Amino acid sequence: MPDAIRAEGLVKTFGAVRALDGVDLDVPEGTVLGLLGPNGAGKTTAVRVLTTLLTPDSGRAVVAGLDVLRHPDRVRRSIGLSGQFAAVDEYLTGRENLRMVGELYQLSGRDAKARAAVLLERFGLAAAADRPARTYSGGMRRRLDLAAALVVSPPVMFMDEPTTGLDPRNRQALWEVIEDLVAQGTTLLLTTQYLEEADRLADDIVVMDQGRVIARGTSDQLKARTGGERAEVVVRDRGHLPVAREVLRRLGAGEAAVQEHTRKVTVPVTGGARLLAEIIRELDGRGVEIDDIGLRRPTLDDVFLSLTGHRAEGAEDGGGPDADRRGTAGDGGRDRAAADGGAGKEAVR
Ligand SMILES: Nc1ncnc2c1ncn2[C@@H]1O[C@H](COP(=O)(O)OP(=O)(O)OP(=O)(O)O)[C@@H](O)[C@H]1O
Ligand SMILES: [Mg+2]
Repeated sequence: MPDAIRAEGLVKTFGAVRALDGVDLDVPEGTVLGLLGPNGAGKTTAVRVLTTLLTPDSGRAVVAGLDVLRHPDRVRRSIGLSGQFAAVDEYLTGRENLRMVGELYQLSGRDAKARAAVLLERFGLAAAADRPARTYSGGMRRRLDLAAALVVSPPVMFMDEPTTGLDPRNRQALWEVIEDLVAQGTTLLLTTQYLEEADRLADDIVVMDQGRVIARGTSDQLKARTGGERAEVVVRDRGHLPVAREVLRRLGAGEAAVQEHTRKVTVPVTGGARLLAEIIRELDGRGVEIDDIGLRRPTLDDVFLSLTGHRAEGAEDGGGPDADRRGTAGDGGRDRAAADGGAGKEAVR
């Protein structure tokens, strides 16, 4: 499969900041690449270079078969872009915004009108279609911006945090729109802070940090790299932790980690459910009472945390089974999420 997007050695500096520090990317035609990374990793900069909005200091990029530095105009005609910050004309209505984009892309007036109507419906904006965009809520602007990016269904699409600021229902609706597009052969590069989104939509994932690519692979490959499946046991009595640790270390496939305050022991395993039964029997035989036991697959959140030392912006802090689980990822010292507390998060509007 030829690459719809290919970048080699992209470097872009802003003063002392190396926003891109030698980035290589390739996205085969008809696939979705999820570009992940903490704030300031260089995701938006990469998107801006690939969409001809920014000239790199060095490196090259080919999009839809065209060199972005040599043929920026032709590249622009082959791509759609939905930016991190919605670019809608405040004074035009939703319908007028979409028709204007259609006409910019040289659709006939009639086609532009029809396309606008379809998209307004699809993005739940039909009722607000004839109001000026300045009266829209943040989520409505976001959806209008996404609709604008889809007016001409270009072969290659770039979406920079497309669902930031959308409520769960609209996020779901957008995912469906994206899945339709991809089923029709569109290639998509998507940045996101919602790892669930990357998990659902992306064929391949690239994790960036400080202008560099620090990992790439499918979601499953990245999860496997983080350590595969783990068994977790919560013992009733804290005094039983050493025995439980010894049992898990013996039956598991790696070092067992103990978390005192939750009375939890975690170990990487390969044996699946059968192994759980064995763990229960062993612990029972040693008189260890169990409050909870289960198998856990690492989530993409675990992957992100262990690679970057940050929790993703979209991940929930505290509460919930996932939050609890992260405490045993084996890299507790790097969990700075609590300290970061979402600082540096930019508002969508
Ligand atoms: N126009 C600019 N002028 C100066 N510095 C910039 C400019 N654009 C980006 N940067 C810097 O380059 C780095 C990468 O920024 P970029 O916007 O690409 O990050 P990002 O991965 O998209 O982050 P976020 O998740 O917050 O959107 C940051 O340190 C940022 O401050
Ligand atoms: Mg960004």
